[in-house]
Amino acid sequence: MQISPLTEEEYLRWSGLLAERLGIIVPKERKMFLQSKIWSRMREIGYQDYAKYWDYINSGIEGNLEWSQLVDRLTVHETSFYRHQPSFELVKEDFVDKILKAKETLRYKIWSVSCATGEEAYSLALLAHSVCKEQEKKAYYGITATDVSSPAVALAKQAFYSMDKLATIDSSLHDGLEKLNTEMFTIKEHIKKRMAFGVFNLLDVNKPSNIKYDVIYCQNVLMYFERSVREQILDGLVKHLNRDGLLVLGQTEINSWSHHKMKRVNKNRILAFRLK
Ligand SMILES: C[S@@+](CC[C@H](N)C(=O)[O-])C[C@H]1O[C@@H](n2cnc3c(N)ncnc32)[C@H](O)[C@@H]1O
Repeated sequence: MQISPLTEEEYLRWSGLLAERLGIIVPKERKMFLQSKIWSRMREIGYQDYAKYWDYINSGIEGNLEWSQLVDRLTVHETSFYRHQPSFELVKEDFVDKILKAKETLRYKIWSVSCATGEEAYSLALLAHSVCKEQEKKAYYGITATDVSSPAVALAKQAFYSMDKLATIDSSLHDGLEKLNTEMFTIKEHIKKRMAFGVFNLLDVNKPSNIKYDVIYCQNVLMYFERSVREQILDGLVKHLNRDGLLVLGQTEINSWSHHKMKRVNKNRILAFRLK
């Protein structure tokens, strides 16, 4: 069946929904992207009419479940292990430093805020695990990993990765991995036990919560939002940092953002801020 074109009015309606619920902006040049993603999902479940599918999406619990499927199609989940090495090195340095300075046993908490299929979160976990092993002083770590896409979070929890992804994981960290067969590997159970996965929309970051982290790792997601939404999200993330906590962003995530409680980490090729 031929794809049915999104009218101007429909484009405005659907892109408006995306902006409202996810903060994601789909500019006019990307109208074809929006159309093809919605259409292919509609065809999968037997819809041919954008208006009827719209009503379905907006119809209670079933509509919410369908919305989460559509979100998965409309979001980009490109990721990899140790995607930005200098940022991971910063986290490692920070963890070691805090272990050495801690007066009692340190419990170091990291939040990967848009974990996609889990590679970023497990990279942080493998790194934290190796730091704990190397240090004489006892320390614990815990990783919270969230994403707005529930199918992506389900894959992250499952942690089945193809062998070609192994190349970006330093061999010194391989003892945290378990080979499943010639094609797949997973993460060892004792590391998985330190992880908590959940569905979370960054637009909700300003809702009240007392949970605080030593590191908030937020890469390759803010670029999908408008500048004002990016700032609101960053201001919200600051409230979730422990004293001296680190906010690690992607280098191209935002230009010239500042916050009175944060100071920029002065390192090359890194965009990170520390709570004063
Ligand atoms: C390109 S991936 C980045 C994954 C990982 N952070 C990395 O750098 O490799 C972007 C992720 O952001 C998620 N995302 C998009 N909008 C979001 C929102 N409003 N709240 C939370 N996550 C969101 C997508 O589902 C997707 O998994």
